[in-house]
Amino acid sequence: MSALRERRESAYDLLIRNGRVATAADTTLCDIGVKGGRIAALGRGLEGAAREIDASGKLVLPGGIDSHCHIEQLSSAGVVSADDFESATVAAAFGGTTTVIPFAAQHRGQSLRRVVAEYHEAARPKAVIDYAFHLIISDPSPEVLGQELPALIADGYTSFKVYMTYDRLKLDDRQMLDIFAVARREGALVMVHAENHDMIGWLRDRLLDRGLVAPRYHALAHAALAEGEATGRAVSLGALLDVPVLIVHVSTGEAIEAIRSAQTKGLKVYGETCPQYLFLTAEDIEKPGLEGAKFCCSPPPRDTHAQEAVWRGLQNGTFQVFSSDHAPYRFDASGKLPKGDATRFDEIANGIPGIELRLPLLFSEGVGKGRIDLNAFVALAATNHAKLYGLYPRKGTIAVGSDADIAIWDPERAVTVNAAMLHDNTGYTPYEGRPLKGWPVTVLSRGRIVVEEGKLLAARGSGEFLPCALSDAARPLGRLQPELLFAARAGNPLV
Ligand code: URP
Ligand code: ZN
Ligand code: ZN
Repeated sequence: MSALRERRESAYDLLIRNGRVATAADTTLCDIGVKGGRIAALGRGLEGAAREIDASGKLVLPGGIDSHCHIEQLSSAGVVSADDFESATVAAAFGGTTTVIPFAAQHRGQSLRRVVAEYHEAARPKAVIDYAFHLIISDPSPEVLGQELPALIADGYTSFKVYMTYDRLKLDDRQMLDIFAVARREGALVMVHAENHDMIGWLRDRLLDRGLVAPRYHALAHAALAEGEATGRAVSLGALLDVPVLIVHVSTGEAIEAIRSAQTKGLKVYGETCPQYLFLTAEDIEKPGLEGAKFCCSPPPRDTHAQEAVWRGLQNGTFQVFSSDHAPYRFDASGKLPKGDATRFDEIANGIPGIELRLPLLFSEGVGKGRIDLNAFVALAATNHAKLYGLYPRKGTIAVGSDADIAIWDPERAVTVNAAMLHDNTGYTPYEGRPLKGWPVTVLSRGRIVVEEGKLLAARGSGEFLPCALSDAARPLGRLQPELLFAARAGNPLV
């Protein structure tokens, strides 16, 4: 064997041949050469690899990034989600996702640093794909704002979620401003759960006064106006301090309009939506008995008009990211129904599973039915997440030098969803019986084959932690409101 031939044979560890390779920008027919876990070459007729995958007739896409999922997290009501880092990341991988960003969640009185350290202990031995962490801040004490948060941002935890509702997580506007000011100074991205707490509480109490306790009343208490109002307020709080904000899990036209109108004014306001707002409605929550509890999340699924508004928001760029908000609880007293059959709507654990079906649902109903094109799918599934959270271009695209995180999709594969085929620990799926077309058949993380033809090939604990960089998306516009500008000119900058 000649020296040249030997060199060629060791050029790549893996070649993916003849696939239709799509990024957020382009679709091309080409081969991908992988070496040392990264993409080493893109081109036609590449040669020389220890292993080849023939992707003829398949789509070769960046592995998905699920930047909103709750894994091994204690909810504000004290319930632990059904999935640990092993089951959640295995399920994610089977659904074409190769990076997850769950939340290291601070409960009041806790040190944020300690919460993060403990979350690493949970993730390290179990994750099969790579992961980064957002923070949840529920206790913005002087120590958290002054020391812990800036130090954690510098260490690669560059995004955090704040809540405008839930008794044990809710921040008032003043606390939000305090946190936004730190985000501005340090360059971190703020994610907001926007629902008006008092509107929800008032409606809940009126319903309970009348003895209305069934799951369906969850959707009534969490009124669309409560989401619209809080979204507008979060946008204004961000605008006051010139801080970019991402409104997460958007469900309704009112909130979409508030985001769109801010974007039209040139503000850095981003939007995220999730499968439950495209594929479920409040009618699902009306199912008899407690069955409706399986569909209770906050904000709740709305109606078909809201679904159309969400599709439009995906089509016209109001939404940058499509995440699962996977918040899995078993359908029993350990999870969804803390008081068993006597559980009232306001006691149901909030959240539904979706980490594995997020992309197959969007692919089938979005790309398959012509609502979005393949490049928009890639942007919403992967690329924009990496850009927003400081993981680009290592993650979220197919480019020379990027990690070889790749999902090979069979666009023709027909699948009827059932809970038994899924890999999370919830025990049910809200999408039971749904026919889908298109499925990820081979999934690679850093060049390792994680899933192939329905089999898991990656070892527990083989996923790696990803520190996140500061992202351009989080950089302030530099457009101060007159009040702040005045203070700054007078030599007394307020932020
Ligand atoms: O109902 C939901 N979405 N539960 C998960 C927690 C959250 O607010 O995202
Ligand atoms: Zn939330
Ligand atoms: Zn969530």
